[in-house]
Amino acid sequence: MRKTLARGAVVVCFFWLIFPLRAPAKKLIFPEDKLIDNFDEFVQTFSSRRCQACHPRVYHQWEQSYHARSLVDSIKRMASFFAVGIPKEWQKPLNKKEMLKCFDCHLPQIRYATDRLALEIVGMLIEAQKARESGDKVRFRKAYSRLSRLNITCYACHNIVVYRASPGLFGKPDPQTIYTSNPKKVKAPHATAFAPTLKTAAFCAWCHGIYVASDGEKTMCNTLSQSYYHGYIALGGRKTCQECHMYPPGRGHRFPGAHDLDMLREGLGLDAEIRGFRYGVEEWVPAVDVEVTLINRAGHRIPDG
Ligand code: HEC
Ligand code: HEC
Ligand code: HEC
Ligand code: HEC
Ligand code: HEC
Repeated sequence: MRKTLARGAVVVCFFWLIFPLRAPAKKLIFPEDKLIDNFDEFVQTFSSRRCQACHPRVYHQWEQSYHARSLVDSIKRMASFFAVGIPKEWQKPLNKKEMLKCFDCHLPQIRYATDRLALEIVGMLIEAQKARESGDKVRFRKAYSRLSRLNITCYACHNIVVYRASPGLFGKPDPQTIYTSNPKKVKAPHATAFAPTLKTAAFCAWCHGIYVASDGEKTMCNTLSQSYYHGYIALGGRKTCQECHMYPPGRGHRFPGAHDLDMLREGLGLDAEIRGFRYGVEEWVPAVDVEVTLINRAGHRIPDG
C-alpha cells in the first residue's frame, strides 16, 4: 500500500517536472458588464502581464511598442484637454462620454471603469502635468509611474476593439474570448475565436484616423488612415498596415514607426542629381546644380499627427 502511494507520488512529481506550464492555470476571467471602481483592480484586470508568462516573446515586443505607453506619451495634451478644453472652452461637464474622445483609442478599457475611477485617472494626468510644470520631480515621477501602468494592452486589441471597425457585421466581442487572426483551432487554456478583422487595415485605421464620437463631434488626433486610403490604396497601393509594420523580421508587436531608424530609411527615398558647371561672361565661376527629390515610400503621409 505504502509502496503504491510512493510510486504515485513519484509519477505525479515526474509529470509536474515535465509539464510545469501545463499545470491548470488560473482561469482568465474578464468582467462582463460590471464596472470596476478600484485603480489597482482595473490595472490588473486588463494588464498585458496576465498574458506574459505564456506569451513571453510577444509580451517582450509589445513592451517596447508605443502602444505600451499610450497615456504617458500624451500627458500634456490630455491634461490640457481635460482641465481646460472641456470645462472652460466648451463649458461641458467632464464625464466619461467626453473622456472617451481621447480614451477610446488611448485607453480602450476605460469603458469598464466607473465614472469615479475615470475621473481619478484624469486627475492623475492633470496632477502629472502640474508637477512637471512646477518642476517637482518627485511628485511627477509618482504620478507618471501610476499612469504608465495604463496602456493599450493585449486584451484591448484581442478583444475590446477587435470588431470596432465593423460592429454591424460581427456584433460585440464575447468578453471571455481571446480573438486571433488564425482560422485554425488551437488548444489554449483560454477560449479563442477567429476574427478576420485582425488582418485588415480597417482594424488599425479605426484608431489611427479621425474619430467620430457618439455625439457626432470629431477628434482629429491623427489623420493617417485617411491618407492611407486616399493617397496609397487609391493610387494602387496594396499592402495592409500589418504587412509593413508587423510581418518583416524583428517587427511584430513592437509596431515600429517614425521612432525607428529602419522604418525611417524604408519610408524615405532620396534621389539627388548633382551637376557641376561654370558660368560667367568675363570670368568663369564654377558652380553646381543640385536637384533633390524626396520620395515617400510609406503607405501614407509622413510625418503624421
Ligand atoms: C496559461 C497560459 C496562457 C495564458 C495566461 C494566456 N495564453 Fe494565450 N495561449 C496559450 C496557449 C498554450 C495557446 C495555444 C498555442 C499557441 O498558439 O500559443 C494560446 C493561444 C493564444 C492565441 C491564439 C494563437 C493562435 O495561433 O491562434 C492568442 C491570440 C492568445 N493566446 C492571446 C493571449 C492573450 C491576449 C492573453 C492574455 C489576456 C493570453 N493569451 C493568455 C496560453 C496562454
Ligand atoms: C481615433 C483614435 C484617437 C483618439 C480619439 C485620440 N487619439 Fe491621440 N493618438 C492616436 C494615435 C493612433 C496616435 C499615434 C499617431 C502617430 O504616431 O501617427 C496618437 C497620438 C497622440 C499624441 C502624440 C503622442 C506622441 O507620441 O508624442 C498625443 C499627445 C495625443 N494623441 C493626444 C490625444 C488627445 C489629447 C486626445 C483627446 C482629445 C486624443 N489624442 C484622441 C489616436 C487617437
Ligand atoms: C495594437 C493591437 C495589438 C496589441 C496591443 C496586441 N496585439 Fe497581438 N496581434 C495583433 C494583430 C493585428 C495580430 C494579427 C497579425 C496578423 O496576422 O495579421 C496579432 C497577433 C497575435 C498572435 C498570433 C496569433 C494571431 O492572432 O494571429 C498572438 C499569440 C498575439 N497577437 C498575442 C498578443 C499578446 C500576448 C499581446 C500583449 C502582450 C498582444 N498580442 C498585443 C494586434 C495586437
Ligand atoms: C486601440 C487603438 C489602436 C489600435 C487598434 C492600433 N493602434 Fe497603433 N497606436 C495607437 C496609439 C494611441 C498610438 C500612440 C501611442 C503614443 O505614442 O502615445 C499608437 C502608435 C502606433 C505606432 C507608433 C507610431 C510612432 O510614432 O512611432 C505604430 C507604428 C502603430 N501604432 C501601428 C499600428 C498598427 C499597424 C495597428 C494595427 C495592427 C495599430 N497600430 C492598431 C492606437 C492604436
Ligand atoms: C507600404 C508600407 C506601409 C504601409 C502599407 C503602412 N505603413 Fe505606416 N509607415 C511605414 C513607414 C516606412 C513608416 C516610417 C516613415 C516615417 O514615419 O518617416 C511608417 C510610419 C507610420 C507611423 C508613424 C507616423 C508618424 O510620423 O508619427 C504610424 C502611426 C503608422 N505608420 C501606422 C500605419 C497604419 C495604421 C497603417 C495602415 C492604415 C500603415 N501605417 C500603413 C510604412 C507603411
